Amino acid sequence: MPEQKPNVEMRSIPGMMNRGPGARFATVEHAENAGAALRRIAAYFGKEKAMVLGMLAAVVFGTLCGVYAPSVQSRAIDIIAGSRGGFLLPTVGLMAAVYLLYSVSQLFQGLISARLSQRLVKRMREELFSKLIDLPVKYLDTHSHGDVMSRMTNDVENISTTVSQSLPSLFSGVLTIFGTVAIMLWYCWQLALLSFATVLLTVLATKLLSGRVRKYSRKRQAYLGQLNGTVEEMVAGYRTVVAYQHEDITTENFCSTSDELTKAGIKTDIFSGVMGPIMNCIGNIGFVIIAAFGGYFSINGFISVGVISAFIVYAKQFSRPINEIAQVYGQLQTAIAGAERLFIVLDEQDEDMSGEPLEPRRAAVEFSHVDFAYAPGRPVLRDFTLQVPPGKKVALVGATGSGKTTVVNLLMRFYDIDSGTIRIDGQDIQKMSRVSLRKNVAIVLQDTVLFSDTVRKNLEYARDNARMDDIEKAAELSHCSEMIQKLPEGYDTLLAASGANISQGQRQLLAIARAFVADPKILILDEATSNVDTRTEKAIQGAMQKIMEDRTSIVIAHRLSTIRDADIIVVMDRGEIVESGSHDELIKKRGKYYDLYKTQYAGFAT
Ligand SMILES: Nc1ncnc2c1ncn2[C@@H]1O[C@H](COP(=O)(O)OP(=O)(O)OP(=O)(O)O)[C@@H](O)[C@H]1O
Ligand SMILES: [Mg+2]
Repeated sequence: MPEQKPNVEMRSIPGMMNRGPGARFATVEHAENAGAALRRIAAYFGKEKAMVLGMLAAVVFGTLCGVYAPSVQSRAIDIIAGSRGGFLLPTVGLMAAVYLLYSVSQLFQGLISARLSQRLVKRMREELFSKLIDLPVKYLDTHSHGDVMSRMTNDVENISTTVSQSLPSLFSGVLTIFGTVAIMLWYCWQLALLSFATVLLTVLATKLLSGRVRKYSRKRQAYLGQLNGTVEEMVAGYRTVVAYQHEDITTENFCSTSDELTKAGIKTDIFSGVMGPIMNCIGNIGFVIIAAFGGYFSINGFISVGVISAFIVYAKQFSRPINEIAQVYGQLQTAIAGAERLFIVLDEQDEDMSGEPLEPRRAAVEFSHVDFAYAPGRPVLRDFTLQVPPGKKVALVGATGSGKTTVVNLLMRFYDIDSGTIRIDGQDIQKMSRVSLRKNVAIVLQDTVLFSDTVRKNLEYARDNARMDDIEKAAELSHCSEMIQKLPEGYDTLLAASGANISQGQRQLLAIARAFVADPKILILDEATSNVDTRTEKAIQGAMQKIMEDRTSIVIAHRLSTIRDADIIVVMDRGEIVESGSHDELIKKRGKYYDLYKTQYAGFAT
């Protein structure tokens, strides 16, 4: 059977790293420029100097104790064996003290590195979030949400684990190896060299096994990602799955991925499971070598029995870090690659918030000869010229993809135009600060966004200092006060994250109410009433008429009944204005608008 290729990128599943027994060997990613990433990571460490120094001191001290303790032990044994003079009790006391200090310094090392890693990660996480929130809309439009999420969660989490576990163990491992090797050579270089022979075996076995573990755990992570994806889609799209009777196929998919996951899981666990016993076996071979040759050397008077005992401890002490370093190395690489991805986001250009304040008087909006393309070479708006007189209502109509939402994106400066000008009361919005521009424009987007908070908070979202009266008035005008009253806790009802506890139309009404709370100079409604019944829509129209008396509004709608009474109706086609005028004028003209209207109202008198 051909190997099924996992198609879900594992990074996109939050919290997936560091899971399961093979996790220490999980996928190794490589940074493009590890040096630069390391330097920047070092800068983060630099801000926590005291803690870094404390941790280093603990590691160095602990390693020294670890290297020194066996030699005291060796002395004690020699005293017992009678091959050396001295008092046993103080020597045993010293040995106990050194071992105790060793444990205490390891405890400190753990405590400090836990704090250090959490502090570093806190800083990174917060920097990243405030960066994300300051990025231009374009960034989030062009990057997959999964990718952004995974930087926030996986990458940050990997760095945290690395700082708290891998770095200390790498550092103490290297120190231990050097210290142990030096002292072994000093005690008896012949025996030392003999016991190093097992090191070769250790390195070989580690290389062989960790390669396998890495391979299968990478597969496992990918299948796990795929499995999560299937579950996520099933849960999110449950109704669609059931409606099209895809239960069986979805289950089959799930089970086949689950099978693959099981196979990969078993292999990962087997290979990482045998690692311990094999290492033990090699270690025991080492002990045998030490015992046999040590015994021989001891009988011939080269070394004492105590030295043999010390050697046994040293041999164990230095094969452990070799094994560890092999594992930690992969983790370190992954963390550096993750850090690099974080830095890429941190280096993105912030949205430029500078500029003059907008001082709208009557809010006349004017687009003149605007050209715009999301991607170079694929123009979306061409020579777009439109005048919206103050206080008037302009409607944009046109086929799907004709560029209506784009006009709004440009007016809000979510994107900047390529050429031409957009002015509000004669002021060029390109020179205006985005904050002050957006303060004066309220927008109800095509896809309604409500936050998982109370109804009141969602409405207050539009204006910091909104009073309850304002909120209630806005709710009244947008015809949702009755519906809010019917909610179990009125204005204090919590909206579910997906807004599932209210209908789509009710969501839209709340979004409109929110825009009314903002009390803007300019109001933009992009398909804001598409899910609301026609009667409520008409009523909202009336209310809007009232509150929009002194304001300019731009309304986008597919349902032409919504915009009949607009002062100007602009018909767009492929980024260009093909017709404009009032409803009656356009009907008389019998052009595109007439055709659209006729198709929507086939059989009705106009
Ligand atoms: N963020 C984006 N990046 C690249 N291209 C985009 C982006 N948003 C829209 N487009 C493209 O720009 C064109 C106009 O899109 P726009 O969203 O303005 O259409 P629309 O008139 O609002 O359509 P609808 O009635 O479906 O809402 C489309 O061809 C679309 O593919
Ligand atoms: Mg649109």
